[in-house]
Amino acid sequence: MSISHSPTFVDLHPAADRFLDDVLSGLASNPKSLSPKYFYDARGSVLFEAICELPEYYPTRTELALMRGHVAAMAASLGPDCLLIEFGSGAGIKTEVLLQAMRPAAYVAVDISSDALHAAADRHAARFPGVAMIAVCADYMQSLEIPGLSPYATSRRVIYFPGSTIGNLTPEEARSFLRDARLLAGPGGAMLVGVDLKKDPAVLHAAYNDSQGVTAAFNLNLLTRINRELGADFDPAQFCHVAFYDAAAGRIEMHLESRCAQTVSVAGCRFVFAAGERLHTENSCKYSIDEFRQLAQSAGFRAREVWSDPQQYFAVHLLEI
Ligand code: AVI
Repeated sequence: MSISHSPTFVDLHPAADRFLDDVLSGLASNPKSLSPKYFYDARGSVLFEAICELPEYYPTRTELALMRGHVAAMAASLGPDCLLIEFGSGAGIKTEVLLQAMRPAAYVAVDISSDALHAAADRHAARFPGVAMIAVCADYMQSLEIPGLSPYATSRRVIYFPGSTIGNLTPEEARSFLRDARLLAGPGGAMLVGVDLKKDPAVLHAAYNDSQGVTAAFNLNLLTRINRELGADFDPAQFCHVAFYDAAAGRIEMHLESRCAQTVSVAGCRFVFAAGERLHTENSCKYSIDEFRQLAQSAGFRAREVWSDPQQYFAVHLLEI
């Protein structure tokens, strides 16, 4: 990989063929479940962007306000000339706010969607010509090994993981993910993570059951994607969106509930749904500030500063190695 200020693209070929295997095994399991990473086809990504604009969905605007309000302090703590690695395409304004304040020596965006990566990297390259841009197409939830970063002479590696996406992992998965992130950041490295806080269950319930039905459409779109890409015959009208806060587990769960007894076929395999049976599509774990600090510490990080909003809806944690 050569150092260049026009974007460098690295394709680690995230396995597309896992979709079929994952859907078949998820539908065969009891209870039935699918990974939330499959929400994000082209329509799912558009629907997710619409969710982020909803009045009930507070995380995106709260995190952005936190970034705008505290980015100078974050940049001061992280120091200049770092190698900034973001999990997610970095398409959002949060990334621009951070790049503007930090002016890293190099910026690496890692995402499973090559379209999203290309668009974001081209935009950032035009806006920040002094920053080396590297776009890596990879499934960071599967593997955090990114080859070819050593030529970049930088002060330290800083991993940016915004959006509370870490909440879509179970706490055990999140711990293992943080351990891998720690290895990627290496000695002297750091991590900046956006985490959704525990709060009034009514606020959480509204955020995942919006009045316009966008979250329902996002959830049901998974079935449309399976039909289109895997030759299945789900009738989305025969399923309904269910989302609730499980206080004991500290998480929102999203499900698709079968409205009737029905049989669905996927790639020639048949799956029976009882009336009322649920397909579990997402967990969105919420952490108090102390719970997340403890989780990070159990993964080998030192928990440093935390920035949160006055309502205590969202937190951005700085972790160091
Ligand atoms: C991407 N992730 C952090 C979102 C969340 O809130 O867990 C996905 C989402 N699901 C429903 N609404 C938003």
